[in-house]
Amino acid sequence: MSTTALTGIGELVTNDPTHPDGDGSSLGLIQDAAVVVDDAKLAWVGRASAVPDTDERRDLGGCAVIPSFVDSHSHLVFAGDRSAEFAARMTGEPYDGGGIAVSMKATRAATDDELRALLARRVAEMHAQGTGVVEIKSGYGLDVDNEARALRIASEFTDETTFLGAHVVPPEFRASDSGRDDYLDLVCGEMLAACAPYARWIDVFCEPNSAFAFTGEESERVLRAGAGAGLELRVHGNQLGHGPGVQLAVSLGAASVDHCTFLSGEDIAALAGSSTVATLLPGVEFSTRSPYPDARRLIDAGVQLALASDCNPGTCYSSSIPFAIAVAVRDMGMTPAEALLAATSGAAKSLRRSDIGVIRVGARADLTVLDAPSYLHLAYRPGVPIAHALEWGPAAS
Ligand code: NIG
Ligand code: FE
Repeated sequence: MSTTALTGIGELVTNDPTHPDGDGSSLGLIQDAAVVVDDAKLAWVGRASAVPDTDERRDLGGCAVIPSFVDSHSHLVFAGDRSAEFAARMTGEPYDGGGIAVSMKATRAATDDELRALLARRVAEMHAQGTGVVEIKSGYGLDVDNEARALRIASEFTDETTFLGAHVVPPEFRASDSGRDDYLDLVCGEMLAACAPYARWIDVFCEPNSAFAFTGEESERVLRAGAGAGLELRVHGNQLGHGPGVQLAVSLGAASVDHCTFLSGEDIAALAGSSTVATLLPGVEFSTRSPYPDARRLIDAGVQLALASDCNPGTCYSSSIPFAIAVAVRDMGMTPAEALLAATSGAAKSLRRSDIGVIRVGARADLTVLDAPSYLHLAYRPGVPIAHALEWGPAAS
């Protein structure tokens, strides 16, 4: 394997406050920097004036370089179109999760090749906007074969696959009184057994404020079954209103609780005293006209935050982390540095990964080049495609 030096980096965001050439801030900024890549790993990081000899050299002409975004929450395996649902929401229709059944129907009807092609296009779209590793959930199959199929195809693109059979109760289980319990039996039994080989994580839409999603008790049952099958825990919680999702995630030691749109003081205190990351998804509030979570309050309380896209056909069909950063800075009280940290090292923490979201010797060479002199431009130039991932790394990441 040949070594490559990337020189001419005007500003390097390392996320490593201990680097001796850095400014000591959380972002670990190094001016006039270089990095050396060896076999898709970082072999050297420092000032360009001290870069060692390498087989190849590439001058980035003063651009800023950041760790590639870690998109720790997405629902990319789906077919069909729900743009009309979005248009209706913009004229006042509320979001209640009912549209998930529309995506389910189209996803079940798609062939493997069609789903794979749709997924490949969405992952490429993310990469083109600066994302490295992406987490991908199932949740639009909602039967044994289609959930397992979604995860099998997702696992061709990422190691961070999440079983979300407990997304909603599918329509065929809604008619009878015992339907919810019957579906939960399936999710926790045959479906989990078929999906666990293709999944690292299990997730549940814990949302008593939606008739289609799951209560705290139901969610606990799903998460405990998943843990019993060796899966690690993530939770959709407190998205549509106050609910038990955050407390449940913390009490079960979940890696992440995602959305956190409606939080009580007790929820914030529980998160602050835990190792559960609160993952905020600003694109969802943007696309559903919901109030934004108060990121400032969470940070000031000491909560570890992540930012992710939640790219999905219902609440947010945006794959853009720069967009999420711009909204978080503009409307959620985060500084540009806090937002970038949350979208890189914070999201890596939510996936329990220390090899991504950081530019440090030994980490993966997931590097994103900004067509700009500073990371500040991510929020300063909303909607402008300045971020591009330089290395995707090996096929499965
Ligand atoms: O994260 N909240 C649950 N799931 C998705 C939306 C799914 C959909 O509407 O298709 C979310 O917002
Ligand atoms: Fe989601």
